[in-house]
Amino acid sequence: MSQCRHQTIHQKDYTVPDYLVETVELEFDLDPGETRVVSRLSFICNHERGASPRPLVLDGEELTLLSLKLDGAELAPERYRVEEESLVIDAPPERFVLEVTTKINPATNTALSGLYASGPMLCTQCEAEGFRRITYFLDRPDVMAVYTVTLRGDKAACPVLLSNGNLVEKGELPDGRHYAVWHDPFKKPSYLFAVVAGDLVHISDRFTTMSGREVTLEIYVEERNRDKCEHALLSLANAMRWDEEKFGREYDLDVYMVVAVDDFNMGAMENKGLNVFNSRYVLASPESATDDDYQAIEEVIGHEYFHNWTGNRITCRDWFQLSLKEGLTIFRDQEFSADMQSRPVKRIADVKSLRSAQFAEDAGPLAHPVRPESYVEINNFYSMTVYHKGGEVIRMIETLLGREGFRKGMDLYFERHDGQAVRVDEFVQAMADAGGRDLSQFMLWYDQAGTPVLTVTDAWDAGSGSYTLTVKQSCPPTPGQPEKKPFHMPLVMGLLDREGNELPLALAGEGAPSGTQRVLELTRETESFVFTGLSSRPVPSLNRNFSAPVKLDYPYSDDDLTLLMTRDSDPFVRWEAGQVQALKQIMGLVADFQAGRDARVSESFIESFRRLLDDDRQDRAFLAEALTLPGESYLAEQMEVIDPSAIHAARELVRATVGERLSAELLRVRQKCAPAAPYRPDDGLSGCRRVNTICLSYLMAAGGQDAIDMNMAQLRRSDNMTDTLGALAPLAGCACPERDEALGLFYDKWRGDRGVIDKWFSLQATSRLPDTMDRVLALLEHPDFDIRNPNRVRSLVGAFSQANQVRFHDASGRGYRFLGDQILRLNAINPQIAARMLTPFSRWRRFDAARQELMKKELERILAEPGLARDVYELAEKSL
Ligand code: PHE
Ligand code: ZN
Repeated sequence: MSQCRHQTIHQKDYTVPDYLVETVELEFDLDPGETRVVSRLSFICNHERGASPRPLVLDGEELTLLSLKLDGAELAPERYRVEEESLVIDAPPERFVLEVTTKINPATNTALSGLYASGPMLCTQCEAEGFRRITYFLDRPDVMAVYTVTLRGDKAACPVLLSNGNLVEKGELPDGRHYAVWHDPFKKPSYLFAVVAGDLVHISDRFTTMSGREVTLEIYVEERNRDKCEHALLSLANAMRWDEEKFGREYDLDVYMVVAVDDFNMGAMENKGLNVFNSRYVLASPESATDDDYQAIEEVIGHEYFHNWTGNRITCRDWFQLSLKEGLTIFRDQEFSADMQSRPVKRIADVKSLRSAQFAEDAGPLAHPVRPESYVEINNFYSMTVYHKGGEVIRMIETLLGREGFRKGMDLYFERHDGQAVRVDEFVQAMADAGGRDLSQFMLWYDQAGTPVLTVTDAWDAGSGSYTLTVKQSCPPTPGQPEKKPFHMPLVMGLLDREGNELPLALAGEGAPSGTQRVLELTRETESFVFTGLSSRPVPSLNRNFSAPVKLDYPYSDDDLTLLMTRDSDPFVRWEAGQVQALKQIMGLVADFQAGRDARVSESFIESFRRLLDDDRQDRAFLAEALTLPGESYLAEQMEVIDPSAIHAARELVRATVGERLSAELLRVRQKCAPAAPYRPDDGLSGCRRVNTICLSYLMAAGGQDAIDMNMAQLRRSDNMTDTLGALAPLAGCACPERDEALGLFYDKWRGDRGVIDKWFSLQATSRLPDTMDRVLALLEHPDFDIRNPNRVRSLVGAFSQANQVRFHDASGRGYRFLGDQILRLNAINPQIAARMLTPFSRWRRFDAARQELMKKELERILAEPGLARDVYELAEKSL
């Protein structure tokens, strides 16, 4: 039965390891077809585990065991057994050295976990459990050891041989081979191990740390990408400086290496001293990368660098604690980006992605706490919840403790736990101790799933001049958690009078008002806050900066929203007020469409857009966010039964109406933001380019040849990818002859550049035109489509199914069948990617009966597949 095919691992079953590893010596004879690995491990019985002798059980997958020696002597066959996923040695001594020789095949490793080939190079990916696909080991993060690694390989095929730590020796070998020896002085878990071998070039820089140590920074890429590394290198130095300034954290090895590989399951990996990156987060040139690409590179480079302290120096005791490193590091990279760019705009972007993806996850069958209670396949828990909700949880601690208190807590955490593998509890305890706070109720954020809802009501008493805010919190049931306890959360707020002035805040019983912004701490299901000394009924400005990751329900009138939009001191609230207004407008139209009523955009909505466009003082990047309507998937989240066609039609009607009615304003704003050549990613004009792009897209939505010509003109003139895509995206969604012309020109120009061709695939996959499904099917057959390359799969299969709601959810079910087919194909090639592609199906219950039936059929078809990977099985099974 499929139910018992795969084992569930529970957090409560954690036990300390029976054995510890002190040192690891690895020798690799590298060859794509057959790599031989000799591993010499010095084991010691773990006394924490009690005295009784236990067998040593090592993890191993897809390995061929060639020889096994214990303390130098060949081990007799009756003393060990090789099982499907382990090697068991009965009754080993207290202390011993095990020498294991295994054989692996990188060339056939399409799962991209363990040692694999990416183009001409060999590289590793060990998180979470890839090391066991390289050699037998206690492959768990609480087993930390010092590694020495010898790499031998063909000098012509792989002149560069890299591993963690410092290079201690290199030299020549017979038969055109050579070797390198690397030593990493820091104890580390196996998931941080890495090897890279290939014909690579590097660009480098020097960095002097705050204590005056010299560090060499190196970015390794294939020769053809040599000119695309500068931004990554600069971002790395910026991240290093930032971590010193903000957290007092210094780098600890003599060299920091980053390698870009084309085939990679995730974004990047923080291996000690040797980060391996998906090339899309390293490579950039002004012609081929967009402003967003530049920002993403900075963010991911920062993220992996920050892991050196939050993840590597202090790591996770077990994988249930994943958010210990990921939530914290997400928070750190968000703060880094906020300091490097515009803080409010960065916050808005982060909230948008949280609300469209994480809130959806939290509302569906795959909802899980930031610290999950159980899993079948840990790779499935590298989720929006663990990462981004985990980041929000850290941010709430910062809000509760204040900046200084938070910094003290971080210092204490590093002081107490450097070199250890710990739990989330240790982190929160350090924060509680440093801040002198009780965070025990706060821990519920780690253990309860679901997005809390705050229902806010208010009362005004003119007689006493007091205003009462009543906040009721609730959290919907999630799998295995029918009932929730109230959370401890900070609700940052202020009050505005009718003219938009911020009012001084005095809580009843407190005496004199202090400031115009407060952190209200919620701990109970319902609580009231009475503000006194007011002369008229105020408008509440709630959840400023999105201080708590919740859904907020307060009955704002249109006038309230306009006031907040134009006058609130908090940019997030200003933006949010506009989004609520747009949401109301679009959902009203959805209802009109569904009821067959005449649907028309309200004058007041057009007016508020006009005001935005007329306000020249607005920061351009902020304006671009304000002009962007809530996305179709976020709109879908607001509906009981999702109606993809009505959502699309309603949103398009708004876009077309804005384009028509405000064409003069859009043209004027666009004029002022006219592209300045030559482009530089750091010219400070990215906000302008964003505004230009959005104006163009509204003008295109209104239709007409003028708009098409405008796009074509920009496309021809553009010297950079931001403006190019800004013009090409609307054309890819336009039923006009220029569509194929533009896409064809673009392809011909960029056919040699993988990153850009990924964009070309996604543009077509996300076109809202009715023929998109056919186009996608045709693109599957395109010579540049490669099912083995995760970026390419994401750019076609992922983009269509996750970013094109109206076409994917076509009532015919063709989209579903397509996705089901691709998941089954991928299951045999790369289970992690196959599982990631399953997300859209997990939302099946949110749709109408006919669509439910069709999606369910696909899930059942997937589950019936013989040899279904653990990854896919878990998500499909839980979705049903
Ligand atoms: N630990 C990586 C990060 O967040 C993500 C990752 C997980 C990469 C698993 C590869 C495999 O930085
Ligand atoms: Zn990370």
